[in-house]
Amino acid sequence: MTDKLKVGIVGGTGMVGQRFVELLNQHPWFKVTAIAASASSAGKTYEEAVQGRWKLSTPIPEAVKQIVVQDASKVEEVAAGVDFVFCAVDMKKNEIKALEEAYAKTGTPVVSNNSAHRWTPDVPMVIPEINPSHLEVIAAQRKRLGTETGFIAVKPNCSIQSYVPALHALLDFKPTQVVASTYQAISGAGKNFTDWPDMLDNVIPYIGGEEEKSEQEPLRIWGTVENGEIVKANAPLITTQCIRVPVTDGHLATVFASFENKPAKEEILARWREYQGRPQELGLPSAPKQFITYFEEENRPQTKLDRDTENGMGVSVGRLREDSIYDFKFVGLSHNTLRGAAGGAVLIAELLKAEGYIVAK
Ligand SMILES: NC(=O)c1ccc[n+]([C@@H]2O[C@H](COP(=O)([O-])OP(=O)(O)OC[C@H]3O[C@@H](n4cnc5c(N)ncnc54)[C@H](OP(=O)(O)O)[C@@H]3O)[C@@H](O)[C@H]2O)c1
Repeated sequence: MTDKLKVGIVGGTGMVGQRFVELLNQHPWFKVTAIAASASSAGKTYEEAVQGRWKLSTPIPEAVKQIVVQDASKVEEVAAGVDFVFCAVDMKKNEIKALEEAYAKTGTPVVSNNSAHRWTPDVPMVIPEINPSHLEVIAAQRKRLGTETGFIAVKPNCSIQSYVPALHALLDFKPTQVVASTYQAISGAGKNFTDWPDMLDNVIPYIGGEEEKSEQEPLRIWGTVENGEIVKANAPLITTQCIRVPVTDGHLATVFASFENKPAKEEILARWREYQGRPQELGLPSAPKQFITYFEEENRPQTKLDRDTENGMGVSVGRLREDSIYDFKFVGLSHNTLRGAAGGAVLIAELLKAEGYIVAK
C-alpha cells in the first residue's frame, strides 16, 4: 500500500499515547500526522512535550519528534488533518464521552482506549478475534450522531484478555460458571517501579473498579446486536478478584470453569490450538499468527517469559487440568499494554480498515 491512512493520536503525550506512537512507527497502513493533548502541551513539538516523561525503552521515533502537538479540544482543527484518531486521554468520563463524540461528529472515526463509551449501547467494544460482528452496530450509531463516516469503537479493559480468549474458544461447550483471579502489572495503573516504589516486594489486593469490569465486560463481548444495540449475554456467571502484583507488564489470570457440556481435556487443547479469528483470516498486520498458545510445561506461562508471545499480541495459556469443584482450571496471560491497550486498539483499527469502516477522507 502506498497511500497510508492519516491518523491522529488524541492524548498522544501520555503513557498509552506513547505506546500508540511506538506501534504506529512504520505501520504498513497508518501514518501519524497529528498528535493532540491538553492545552499545556499544545504548541510544543512532540519531543518537547514528552521531555522527561518518555516512558518506553525504545527512543522517540524520528518521524514524530517535530510534529507540533495540537490542543485536543480544537476538534475541527485536529480532525481536518487526519482520516481517523486513536483516543487515550485521561479526563473525566463525561468529558471523554463528549470529546469522542465531537470527533465522531466531524466524520472522523475514533478508536478509543478509554472506558467512557464501553457501555454506550450502539458503540462496539471489540476484541477483533472474538466479536468482529459487533461492528455492524456502527450503522445505528452513525444515524444517532448524524454522520455518514464518523463513529466510535472501543477496546475492553486490559484484564479480560487474560482469560476471555481461552473461554471464548470453548463457548460451544457452554461455560456456566467462571472464577477468575487476575494478577495485574503496575503498568496497568500507568506506573513503573520508580513512580510507585511501594509496589516493590508488595501485593495490593484491590484495584478500584476492576472487578466489576472484569465480570461484566466479557458478557458484553459475548453479546448480540439487536435493533441497533449490543445486548449483553446472560451466561456464564463470572466472579473475579483483581490483585496488583510487582511486575512491570503482563496480566496473569488463574481461572476455574464449569460447563453445561463438559469437554474432554484433549478437546479443549484442540480448540485452543485451532482457534482462528477474523484478524488471522484477513492477515491483519498486527494480528498474532497463533492467537492462543498453550504451554505444556507445568511452570508456564510466566509473566516475564511469556508476555511478549506473538509480539505481545498473543494470549498464553497453561496448566489445564481437571478440578475437584469446577470442571477445569487453567492459567492465562496477556500483555496489558500491548494486546490489552494500544496494540489491541491498533488491531481494531486494522479490522475497521479491512472491513471498509475507515477510509481516506
Ligand atoms: N496506563 C495504562 O496501562 C492504561 C491501560 C488501559 C487504559 N488506560 C486508560 O487510557 C487513558 C490514558 O491513560 P494514560 O495512562 O496514558 O494517561 P496519562 O499518561 O496521564 O496521559 C494522559 C493524556 O491525556 C491528555 N490529557 C489530560 N487532560 C487533558 C485535557 N483536559 N484535554 C486534552 N488532553 C488531556 C494528556 O495530555 P498532557 O500530556 O498535555 O497532559 C496526556 O496526553 C486513561 O483513560 C486510562 O484510564 C490506561
